Amino acid sequence: MKAVNVNTLLSLKSNGEKFPVITAYDSAFARQIELAGIEVVLVGDSLGNVVLGYTSTVPVTMDDMLHHTAAVARGNDKSLLIGDMPFMSYATEEMTMDNAALLMQAGAQMVKLEGGAWLEESIFMLSERGIPVCGHLGLTPQSVNKLGGYKVQGRDEEAAQTIFTDAEILQTAGADLLVLECVPTDLAGRISKHLDIPVIGIGAGPDTDAQVLVLYDMLGFSPRIPKFTKNFLSDTGDVQLALKAYADAVRSGEFPAPEHCFT
Ligand code: KIV
Repeated sequence: MKAVNVNTLLSLKSNGEKFPVITAYDSAFARQIELAGIEVVLVGDSLGNVVLGYTSTVPVTMDDMLHHTAAVARGNDKSLLIGDMPFMSYATEEMTMDNAALLMQAGAQMVKLEGGAWLEESIFMLSERGIPVCGHLGLTPQSVNKLGGYKVQGRDEEAAQTIFTDAEILQTAGADLLVLECVPTDLAGRISKHLDIPVIGIGAGPDTDAQVLVLYDMLGFSPRIPKFTKNFLSDTGDVQLALKAYADAVRSGEFPAPEHCFT
């Protein structure tokens, strides 16, 4: 695989080619992900749940993210590396600029922020200063306490319209990618078709431009496996084959199947 950048992903979208994204938190798995030819690696703040043993992503700190982003960057120099900005690290525009810069200096090539229209100015400022941005709408786990649990979002017409409008606002502000988490298939399909930037789904059905899974969920290591995940390790017991099976299933459109989706 040649080194992936934002233009690679835009071309995949314009050619109608789906691509896989996966999380990683250390160098060893980052290397396996590069070997499997997976285009994008996300150092997600799911780190808190699957590696650090917290019950949510809220306790994850900038220091945690910098440490794990640097480790992933040392193991993989081909996949595009997205670093997640943790809870409250982008509460003000000044904090956003400072913390995004630290993540980029640790090895990220793009930063991801959870939230809608309220992020418009921050995304504009990051983008203007040369920092690529991935938005994140739908179920935004850092807001679990406000949302009242890990629930599918955008199920009624008004909520769906808010997500649709937020997606437009993020793209116009300068976002380069968008994650949609746990939203109905139909809504994710409409947003993916409407936006020019690639949309990455997780629990968002088969009609997005890309899919992302949490590495430890798709390897079956997490204590609670969400409905939208599939265990790709169980067939062979080989991590490299599991990653390749996931990448193939995303590219062919075989994953996600109806049992992984919400209506
Ligand atoms: O933190 C994470 O791993 C994420 C993905 C689930 C999209 O944000």
